[in-house]
Amino acid sequence: VDLDPMYIWFTVLAGLAILSFSFLKTFFPYFGEDCAYIRRSIKLGVRLLKYKKIKPFYSILDCFLDAAQRHPAKIFLHFEGREYSYGEVDKQSNKVARALQAEARLKEGDSVALFLANEPNFVWTWLGLAKLGCPVALLNFNIRSKSLLHCFSCCGAKVIIICPELQDAVEEVLPTLREQGISVYLLSDSCSVKGINSLSDQIAQASDQPLSRDLRANVNIRSTALYIYTSGTTGLPKAAVVTHERVWAASFIQALCGVTADDVFYINLPLYHSAGFLIGMSGAIERGITIILRKKFSASQFWDDCRKYNVTVMQYIGETMRYLCNTPKKDNEKNHKVRIAIGNGVRTDVWSEFLDRFGDIKVRELYAATEGNIGFINYTSKIGAVGRANFVHRFFFPYTLIKFDIEKEEPVRNSQGLCIEAARGETGLLVGRITQRSPFVGYAGNQQQTEKKRLRDVLKKGDLYFNTGDLLRLDHENFVYFQDRVGDTFRWKGENVATSEVADILTMAHCILEANVYGVKVEGHEGRIGMAAVTLKEGEDFDCSDAFKQVVNYLPAYARPRFIRIQPCLEMTGTFKMKKVKLVEEGFNPAHIKDLLYFLDPEKKTYVPLTDTIYRAIANREIKL
Ligand SMILES: *[C@@H]1O[C@H](CO)[C@@H](O)[C@H](O)[C@H]1NC(C)=O
Ligand SMILES: *[C@@H]1O[C@H](CO)[C@@H](O)[C@H](O)[C@H]1NC(C)=O
Repeated sequence: VDLDPMYIWFTVLAGLAILSFSFLKTFFPYFGEDCAYIRRSIKLGVRLLKYKKIKPFYSILDCFLDAAQRHPAKIFLHFEGREYSYGEVDKQSNKVARALQAEARLKEGDSVALFLANEPNFVWTWLGLAKLGCPVALLNFNIRSKSLLHCFSCCGAKVIIICPELQDAVEEVLPTLREQGISVYLLSDSCSVKGINSLSDQIAQASDQPLSRDLRANVNIRSTALYIYTSGTTGLPKAAVVTHERVWAASFIQALCGVTADDVFYINLPLYHSAGFLIGMSGAIERGITIILRKKFSASQFWDDCRKYNVTVMQYIGETMRYLCNTPKKDNEKNHKVRIAIGNGVRTDVWSEFLDRFGDIKVRELYAATEGNIGFINYTSKIGAVGRANFVHRFFFPYTLIKFDIEKEEPVRNSQGLCIEAARGETGLLVGRITQRSPFVGYAGNQQQTEKKRLRDVLKKGDLYFNTGDLLRLDHENFVYFQDRVGDTFRWKGENVATSEVADILTMAHCILEANVYGVKVEGHEGRIGMAAVTLKEGEDFDCSDAFKQVVNYLPAYARPRFIRIQPCLEMTGTFKMKKVKLVEEGFNPAHIKDLLYFLDPEKKTYVPLTDTIYRAIANREIKL
């Protein structure tokens, strides 16, 4: 392959840099880690470039087929006590492909939606469809009715494949699906419902012989491989178009994090999201390793599974680590082989506790969005950082942080209408320039949402950036810190309050298990005042004075949650992001909210139950906020 001269240039440059390593080490303590990371990135970049040029196109499916040929007997999947080798999964996917080809008359380019639980079926059905050259939409198995129909229709599929567990959900919308001429296939031996076709018999009877490559002759690196739905905190989910190029880039993350061919990877995240599907499963295929697949995350089973299956790499997201830290302490907690944890969204206090309890695990915190064109990985051991900025990364994936107006929820612009770069140490909105190398494909069937993520005239008239909607900060050592999602920061008394920081402090109160912090409007006030929905630890009541002490000791006055709402559980999205919008709308009126409410009373120096009297006094401005 002829390589992009730029890659060669950078390889040489990295080589020179390594020569002067010992000198630099003294002055740049992270230089070694930077170099190792840059070296791995360049290697992978060269591979991606090769895949772009090679004919016929080499997809993650081809990578799987090579692995199945190299080590057919190696276990690919462990699931609920059963194991499936690479060879078996390959054959099973041939059968699925043949059955679907015969029954649904699928051909290259036809989209197919999967509405399946986290189970091996998910994996080989996808592989089978990939063999037919069909893009696959990964429907979230928690969605129902209108949302299900919406998600299904944005991917333009005429076929949906479902599992018996989700049959009821599909029956609910079956009349609409039938009206639209959609074929529904159930992975079961029989089905008595008109309009749902069982498929398992046909799969069982189909030949397991390999399918011709010609069936997918036109698939290339820019073709759509998947539709993955982004779990917004507002509105209906959007179907991000995931090209084969993006699949490759995400599949390299395990390699970037140092996962090797001997590792065993534990997946307990849903396969319908990019974390589980791309970073987890596709990444495991890229490495040719064994996956321990679970239907869903279980904190109590977690370490037993890791011990039983010799798991060496775990994946986490959002609150996973907190759930693990909340399990009762056991003697054998450090007795496991987990050496790497890949994920995102862990809070620093939980991170430290996690390492204390469960031993020396390399946490690879990363920042990326399914549809985004920019990401970071924490490849050093800096607690709290999501990654590091380095020139190679920035050269290939140009990005910048720009000043952002929290109040108006839009970038600050100067007199020429251009955005202003945030100063070092200042929190700014992360935007990634849209280029050939870092494209933003957008959302299927939603031009309006796609356009909303595009930001023009950022640093120059006519330039085009992807708006991540995330606020980050770059420190003087080039570490990148995730601050908040836009909307997860609110403004009160002219100050920005990052909800995650407040939540960290609240959960230090001994009675509080989890906290979801947001801002609520108060009549006659600018901005929004802090409020938190919290859950309590088992057997605990809300300890007003302890919670008061925590927030007063650790938070500036403007950031303190003035209202606390006790909930039996916090509502989460599929990726454990907390839902805020409804809570924000519900506000703090005790007449409308059944949950217990508390009010921070600075005079009494404690939280007090929020009564109608207090509520009215706030509304009449007898109580000053
Ligand atoms: C885990 O490792 C141990 C020791 O290396 C081995 O005896 C055992 O069979 C392994 N278990 C699995 C499920 O591979
Ligand atoms: C980066 O990783 C190291 C160890 O692998 C960890 O100690 C540190 O906290 C991480 N930083 C962030 C922000 O996650």
